[in-house]
This record gives sequence, C-alpha cells and structure tokens, in this order.
Amino acid sequence: MEFLDFQHDPAAEKLVAEVYAAPPMAYIHSFGCQQNVSDGERIKGVLCDIGYGLCDRPEDADLILYNTCAVREHAEQRVFGNVGALKALKEKKPGLIIGLCGCMANQQHIVDKLRKSYPYVDLVFGVDGIDTLPQLLSQKLEGKKRILLAPAQRPVIVEHIPVRRESDFRAWLPIMYGCDNFCTYCIVPYVRGREKSRRPADILAEFKGLVAAGYKEITLLGQNVNSYGKGLEEGMDFSDLLHLLCTVPGDYRVRFMTSHPKDASRKLIDTIAAEPHLCKHLHLPVQSGSDRLLAAMNRHYNVEQYLALIDYARQRVPGITFSSDIIVGFPGETEEDFAATLALVKTVGYMQLFTFIYSKREGTKAALLPDPTPRKEKTDRMQRLLDTQDAIAIEKTAELVGKTVRVLVEGYGREEGTLSGRLDNNLTVEFLADESKIGSYAEIELTGARATVLLGQCKEA
Ligand code: 5AD
Ligand code: SF4
Repeated sequence: MEFLDFQHDPAAEKLVAEVYAAPPMAYIHSFGCQQNVSDGERIKGVLCDIGYGLCDRPEDADLILYNTCAVREHAEQRVFGNVGALKALKEKKPGLIIGLCGCMANQQHIVDKLRKSYPYVDLVFGVDGIDTLPQLLSQKLEGKKRILLAPAQRPVIVEHIPVRRESDFRAWLPIMYGCDNFCTYCIVPYVRGREKSRRPADILAEFKGLVAAGYKEITLLGQNVNSYGKGLEEGMDFSDLLHLLCTVPGDYRVRFMTSHPKDASRKLIDTIAAEPHLCKHLHLPVQSGSDRLLAAMNRHYNVEQYLALIDYARQRVPGITFSSDIIVGFPGETEEDFAATLALVKTVGYMQLFTFIYSKREGTKAALLPDPTPRKEKTDRMQRLLDTQDAIAIEKTAELVGKTVRVLVEGYGREEGTLSGRLDNNLTVEFLADESKIGSYAEIELTGARATVLLGQCKEA
C-alpha cells in the first residue's frame, strides 16, 4: 500500500478563475451510505480548493456531480432518474458540466450505458478518483468533450484531501476503505476494491483536529471496521485504534460502523466496556437468522456464534443496545429460513433494524443462484419482519421512560419549539429547549414515547 499526500493544483485553480467571471457553483449530491456521504464531503473540499463555491440546487450550478450508490438496484434507478432529469437543464445551459462518480461509476456496464444513452454526461470517475478531480476538471475546461474513466482501483491512500463537512458537531471519519469479504449478495468488494487501512497516526491527527474544532460525535467508518489494521506496519487492530483515539481529552462520543460479526471480537466488547467515550451501542448486521442462508451468503458465522457474542456484550456492557441489517428474500429463502430470522430478531431484541429486500447485483455470486420466490411472497415476509420489529422497538423504547439520559442535540423536532436529540443507542428524543442548544449535549429526562420516538424534558432548559 502506498500513502500519498493530496497536492493542491494551482494550475487548475488559475484555469477555473480564467474560465468563469465569478466563482463557479457546484452542486454535489451523495446517495447511499455514510462512506459515500463522507466521500462527498471530500469532493466538496477538493472543489472549494480550486475556487468553486457550493450551491443547494442543481439549477444554480455550473457543475453537477452525483456521487452514486450501487448496493441495490433501486439506488441505481434513482440515480438514472436524477441524471435523466438534467438533460433539459443542460440544453438551457450548454456550459454546465454534469458528472457521475462513486460506486456506480466503478462498474463497466454502467459506464457503457452512460456513454451510449446519456451523451450529456461529461465526466465519470470512480471512488478512488476524488483527489484527481482538479486535473479531470482542467481537461474538461480546456475543451475535452467527455471524460469517462474506466473502472479502476488504486492501491493507494491519499491523505490530507481537503474536506467540507456538512455538520460542525457530528463528523464522519473513514478509517479504512474497501472490503475483502465477498458476501455473495454484495457488490461492494467489486466497486470499492480490496480493503485498505489508513495509518493510525493519520487517523489520530484527523481525530484530534475534530475534537479541537469542537466536534461532539465522531463516527469511524469502514465496510468492516473490525478487520482494521490488516497489512499495516503498526500491528494495530481495531480495539487498539479505539483505545488510542480515546486517549484524546475532550467532551465527545465515538460511534463506528460497520461491524462484521465474524470479526467482532470479545476484545472489542471489552473495549466498549472500558472506554467511556464509546457509545454503548453496536450495529452488528446479521443479514439472516438461518444458518443455511448465512453459509450461502458467505458470512462465516452461525446463529449460535452470533448470539454468543450478543450475550457476552450484554454481560460485559450493561445497557448495551444493538441494531442490525437484514436481507429478506435472499435466493432460495424458504418460509423456514425466514421463520428463523424472525425468531432471531425476537431473541436479540434490536433497538433498530435496517431491512432490505434482496436485490440481484450483476457480477456477484448470488446473482447466479435460482431465485424462485415470487416478489409478493418477499414483500409479505418483509411486512411480517417490520411488524415484529415495530412491536419490539416500541416495547424497548417504553422501557426507557423515567430515565435521565445524555443526548447530543442535533436539530429541530417535529413540533413547533421542540428540539431533537440522539441517545447513545441511536434513538431520538424530542423536548422543549432553546435552539442555542443545537450541537451540544443536554441532560434529558425521558417522560414518554410516541412509537419509537421518545419525549423528554430538558433538565437545564
Ligand atoms: N440486496 C439487498 N440488500 C443488500 N445489502 C447489501 N447488498 C444487498 C443486496 N444485494 C444490504 C446488507 C448490508 C447493507 C448495507 O445493505 O444488509 O448490510
Ligand atoms: Fe458487502 Fe459483506 Fe463487505 Fe459488508 S462485509 S460491504 S455486506 S461484502
């Protein structure tokens, strides 16, 4: 693995200033997961570094970039819908540059489709191309017609890419990129490439900078944070990294995602128990409660091992809560497999579930499996899963009423005058308080619940 430093491109900055009378505006929209949102923040940083301003509406933009997601077909369709809608805008404003980047751009068949059917898309580059954006834009501004890069992954990590964060109190901090797991349904390893970890010193420096800038919640990101450190000289694992970061003094909390159950170690649980900065919450995607399907998904754990980990966490970290991802309707899922998933969901008692109907991804192993279950059957199962989880979540939320908790105040609530804050366990609470509290911590007494949203009273309001 090679580590590079981002280089400011003065020639690109000069060219931008020459081409546009006033600073040009860029509209960047990121679809999909937090990793993509985090990439989007770096794309914005790189653009500002060469003189672009940022705008909130495509109509005001000189450059539109869609930072795309490929994890499910629906996400891709949405992007094509959005790109299609830009045709009229481009006709009105021929100088407009339209680009597409992120996970979709790392699939050859998508690049081919864009080349053929979307002639007004000027620029396509993949997830590893963010630092090269100034040079790509320079070529475009110098008159090159279209720049559609073929999917490629670079075995490099570029540090110190400028970043324009969306919040000034919650930050995304990528600690690694890519994925080596090849779960059979998942496109991520193909589009984001092999796993690569940032150096601990680089992560620590960015983390310290965030704490010094007053960030109150820092979420460490990786497709599988529990395998952090593979191949690094430092010989550090994810728990070691957490301990290192938590030595930074300050008033902040740390979250991380995603944890793969096969690599979530007891050492990690012990670390959560030991470090007060870490949220007592674990997002631990199980995907299915059927051992047969877990094997077909190439997940490398079974239900017994998964539940043993949950048990250990509950013993070591009193009050810890869990959330999970579940795929409904994986090829060949039987009613019996699905019943096992429902049983597991009830046994664990998740605070929150993210549920997805299986989506066939070309190029993955599961795409080759027969999938005879009718769509209607899959949507019925999904509804049963949602109903089961709703009942659990309502019960779990109600159990919290009466407690006093520390929340990070994130914004406005749904009712006039209320604010909304988030607990350690990711649940939301709404309460009356002055808006100056947004971005800081507050002690909230939980007084009631409306389904899974808590209601509370601010102790110091
Ligand atoms: N179909 C449905 N859900 C998927 N996920 C990943 N790939 C697919 C797919 N092909 C889900 C998994 C993963 C989450 C981020 O997205 O549950 O944990
Ligand atoms: Fe996809 Fe599995 Fe990697 Fe997660 S761990 S990104 S589900 S291959």
